[in-house]
Amino acid sequence: MESYYRYSVSAFILLCLCVFTIPVVFLNYDHFNPFMNLSNPTLESPGPKFELQRLIVSTSDQIRAVSTSGSTDDHQHLNRNTTLIRETKKLSKEQVLEQGLARARASIRSAAIARIVRTAFFMNDNDVPVGDVYRNPSTFYQSYVEMERRFKVYVYSEGELPIVHDGPCKNLYTIEGRFIHEMEHGAKRFRTNDPQRAHVYFMPFSVAWMVKYIYTPLSFDITPLKHFVSDYVKVISIKYPFWNRTHGADHFMLACHDWGPHASQGNSLLYNNSIRVLCNANISEGFNPQKDVSPPEISLIGGYLSHKLIHPPPPNTSRPYFAFFAGGLHGPIRPYLLQHWKGRDNDMQVYEYLPKNKDYYSYMLESKFCLCPSGYEVASPRIVEAIYSGCVPVILSDNYVLPFSDVLQWEAFSVQVETTKIPRLKEILSAIPEEKYRKLQEGVIVVRRHFMLNRPPKRFDVFHMILHSIWVRRINARPNSNRS
Ligand SMILES: *[C@@H]1O[C@H](CO)[C@@H](O)[C@H](O)[C@H]1NC(C)=O
Ligand SMILES: *[C@@H]1O[C@H](CO)[C@@H](O)[C@H](O)[C@H]1NC(C)=O
Ligand SMILES: *[C@@H]1O[C@H](CO)[C@@H](O)[C@H](O)[C@H]1NC(C)=O
Ligand SMILES: *[C@@H]1O[C@H](CO)[C@@H](O)[C@H](O)[C@H]1NC(C)=O
Ligand SMILES: *[C@@H]1O[C@H](CO)[C@@H](O)[C@H](O)[C@H]1NC(C)=O
Repeated sequence: MESYYRYSVSAFILLCLCVFTIPVVFLNYDHFNPFMNLSNPTLESPGPKFELQRLIVSTSDQIRAVSTSGSTDDHQHLNRNTTLIRETKKLSKEQVLEQGLARARASIRSAAIARIVRTAFFMNDNDVPVGDVYRNPSTFYQSYVEMERRFKVYVYSEGELPIVHDGPCKNLYTIEGRFIHEMEHGAKRFRTNDPQRAHVYFMPFSVAWMVKYIYTPLSFDITPLKHFVSDYVKVISIKYPFWNRTHGADHFMLACHDWGPHASQGNSLLYNNSIRVLCNANISEGFNPQKDVSPPEISLIGGYLSHKLIHPPPPNTSRPYFAFFAGGLHGPIRPYLLQHWKGRDNDMQVYEYLPKNKDYYSYMLESKFCLCPSGYEVASPRIVEAIYSGCVPVILSDNYVLPFSDVLQWEAFSVQVETTKIPRLKEILSAIPEEKYRKLQEGVIVVRRHFMLNRPPKRFDVFHMILHSIWVRRINARPNSNRS
């Protein structure tokens, strides 16, 4: 709750134009890689749904033999075989959707198998993800391309300003506003006005604005937020058939405010089934990496990214400071860090308050390692700021699911140190060989584009990465539902 004070505490952030910055977290990622499920999807309740999936897969294989484009449009490309045309027309929109998803899964699966060949083949596309920073660059690429080809989101129009259809764009919770605006007014490619053709349904409310407009300051009473969410779900589930059809499993919400997880408790199906895109991706607070998405926290005070971070120095620029941190004492980890390192060692530039003549971003640009401890909540905008600065982030966090760790291999561009080892921090970082450090830093430069907020969005940037994480969860999801 205290994180509400972050507005004042994080004065170090002067980003511009709602454009960049983020925090991260991670934990034990090995148990989770959504792509791994593709070859062997886990079904919560195998049964009629599974049979339907199988049917769809085989039907789609037939159609694929005729259709060269892989398009889900059932009226094109089939002129050569009228039997197939008739068959296809009989499919409901929903079946067509599922069929498209089945094709996407198949193509991603084959990319996973043929990774080397594919990666080489894809070299024609300048955006192709390559290298160690990805868990599997070719599956990622294939799944990204499938998303571009097919993914459709329906955005509910219910609800009124300011809490719905808008969100902050100039503070720590910038992602809320930028994502909602992009979904509502941009991103035409990924949007559909026909809810029958949608793969997922977006509930465009802002938890940060709930806190601003319906929360009583200092009351620490979050029930108004829960009620809002509960009412919202009630409205859409009465008016449309989609919520009941999957018990919310193909619906998503996005919240960067720390209270996002609490607000989502307003409806138990939303909490348990829906895709919750939450900056506060704290495993001990119910974040479920199988279905929830961890976006980065990007702080844009004033709405802009600092010009200092727009063009970071080239990789070999000298960085006089070994490690850097400045920030308030909130949460359990930071006092420990400051206790051990503040004013102790010239190599460890650790401050509660920055010296007057120094500025935050210059420090990051001149440091080799940027320390990113959790505050009250797991996410921290420092992680993204470090990435923007070309500074290797050192993640000091428990229970944090790092952003996009479904596709990114955080070990290749960051260092994670157990919080209990903070007293040995310098020793641990010093033991990293120069060669290894250079690789980490190169990795930081490579992943930078995935954390950038652009207006309009660019391929593979943070907006598309968030969408991709949602897409991946949708294609793995086989909502064990009432869908017929
Ligand atoms: C059309 O497709 C059906 C089903 O696959 C097949 O039996 C039939 O021979 C095809 N007809 C033509 C003209 O290719
Ligand atoms: C969905 O289920 C709820 C609760 O069971 C019910 O009140 C509502 O009318 C249903 N919605 C539709 C569209 O049938
Ligand atoms: C989620 O499901 C569990 C188990 O079914 C249930 O005990 C819990 O109350 C649900 N969570 C919420 C927030 O409703
Ligand atoms: C950085 O320096 C190293 C060693 O001095 C050199 O091998 C490498 O090519 C340089 N990289 C760049 C991008 O200049
Ligand atoms: C994460 O959740 C746990 C359980 O609610 C809580 O104790 C912890 O303070 C939260 N935040 C962080 C930064 O770990």
